[in-house]
Amino acid sequence: PVIVIDFGAQYAQLIARRVREAHVYSEIMPHTASVAEVLARDPQAIILSGGPQSVYASGAPQVDPALFSAGVPVFGICYGFQAMAQALGGVVRRTDTSEFGRTHLEVDEPSPLLAGIPQTLNVWMSHGDSVTQEPAGFGRLAHSLGTPVAAFADTDRGFAGVQWHPEVAHTELGQQVIENFLYNVAGLTPDWTSENFVAEQIAAIRAQVGDRQVLCGLSGGVDSAVAAALVQRAIGDQLTCVFVDHGLLRAGEAEQVEKDFVAATGVRLVVADEKDRFLEALAGVSDPETKRKIVGREFIRSFEAAARAIAGERGIDFLVQGTLYPDVVESGGGDGAANIKSHHNVGGLPDDLQFTLIEPLRTLFKDEVRAAGVELGLPEEMVWRQPFPGPGLAIRIIGEVTWERLELLRAADAIARHELTAAGLDRAVWQMPVVLLADVRSVGVQGDGRTYGHPIVLRPVSSEDAMTADWSRLPYEVIEKISTRITNEVRQINRVVVDVTSKPPGTIEWE
Ligand code: XMP
Repeated sequence: PVIVIDFGAQYAQLIARRVREAHVYSEIMPHTASVAEVLARDPQAIILSGGPQSVYASGAPQVDPALFSAGVPVFGICYGFQAMAQALGGVVRRTDTSEFGRTHLEVDEPSPLLAGIPQTLNVWMSHGDSVTQEPAGFGRLAHSLGTPVAAFADTDRGFAGVQWHPEVAHTELGQQVIENFLYNVAGLTPDWTSENFVAEQIAAIRAQVGDRQVLCGLSGGVDSAVAAALVQRAIGDQLTCVFVDHGLLRAGEAEQVEKDFVAATGVRLVVADEKDRFLEALAGVSDPETKRKIVGREFIRSFEAAARAIAGERGIDFLVQGTLYPDVVESGGGDGAANIKSHHNVGGLPDDLQFTLIEPLRTLFKDEVRAAGVELGLPEEMVWRQPFPGPGLAIRIIGEVTWERLELLRAADAIARHELTAAGLDRAVWQMPVVLLADVRSVGVQGDGRTYGHPIVLRPVSSEDAMTADWSRLPYEVIEKISTRITNEVRQINRVVVDVTSKPPGTIEWE
């Protein structure tokens, strides 16, 4: 893999995705990993990410110079560029001009790193310190007003770096620079494709499973559907899928899975009615992390019960989960990352898990899962479904989960989804959680009478991978229609509000 070393900004994920868009497989490691740990992954190249600190700040993460004697190509970006300059004997200074945002760049010298890049272009910068002298052996390739050395390279050794952020969408020709590094400087071949991914996973699953039985939990979402389809491709009817109806679903969801997925794959599907189990376990609980852990645990208990029902004493050894790379990183499973939320299928798993997990999508971002789904022949509607979290409506009721509240939220959600689809916005909007503020009440007036009801929050967002998101500018007419219908048709809802927070600082779900 190409290893992206995360210096603590939010850009490492983005870099990893851009590398994969160049069809080269990449993984992220924290800057606290030792050189030995990094080299143990047998990297084809290393990319040092941006970071929030100054290379001079006390405790600022440093780059161990040993990294540069391993014969592995290295690309430094922003902070990584400066740390690289410093480790190799260049000079980094606090100059008077900080550059944030759009910056005019001038190319000074042709080089394989900047092949195909025009003389001048606009790039995205975010820095206070600058490299004023490149290390010995490096060519000085570009500058900006505030940055005497904005790019350098020593192509003989496979080293290069840029002060700007080639990974962000605002930078012109950013992807080209990343690809230039990968292909021209590091000499890598673009061979990481969905086709190869599917083939590799099929071989790995066969080797892991042998002739044993496998259970797969289907949620109706893209991830579990693609994971199931992949495992089915690998081991055929050794696989049984279970759809756990935990009562936290949206209207019509259970029926849709039975209809769509089974029709597309012909997989063996068991539907388990576990509404009572989940509602009892969630009774009296309002804390988000506790809810998540309860749902994670009860999912597993449901799968165990299903396994006994299907295979009796013999049992089932393996459980497939559609865990994705962002789930792993956000649950704190990615080395060194902070635990923001316990995704029900990662941080929410009970300790006494009786299954061995098969998680074929654990290294993928969402768009890559969709590509794999297409590769596996799943229908468009299924591959492009908007994400829906495993804990379902439990994390969209702010407060205790009760059946009555679930029914309220389901009614409001059905209206919102219907109108979004009717407006043709399903693809433009990444997802639109509808949230019930169950413990909040406000005064309203309806038909001359005072009401004292609950607000519903619409949370439409646009995103590429759910790691970052922006709030969607829904047309006013669509918001109006949703608001009018919900307040007219759903008793007890007397107010509709729209969440206009990006991620960060907000997350997509409210809990
Ligand atoms: P957040 O709220 O963390 O959500 O910004 C990012 C994406 O993940 C979904 N999500 C989950 N999906 N299990 C899931 O399968 C979970 O526990 C979970 N929590 C959040 C969320 O809907 C969004 O797409």
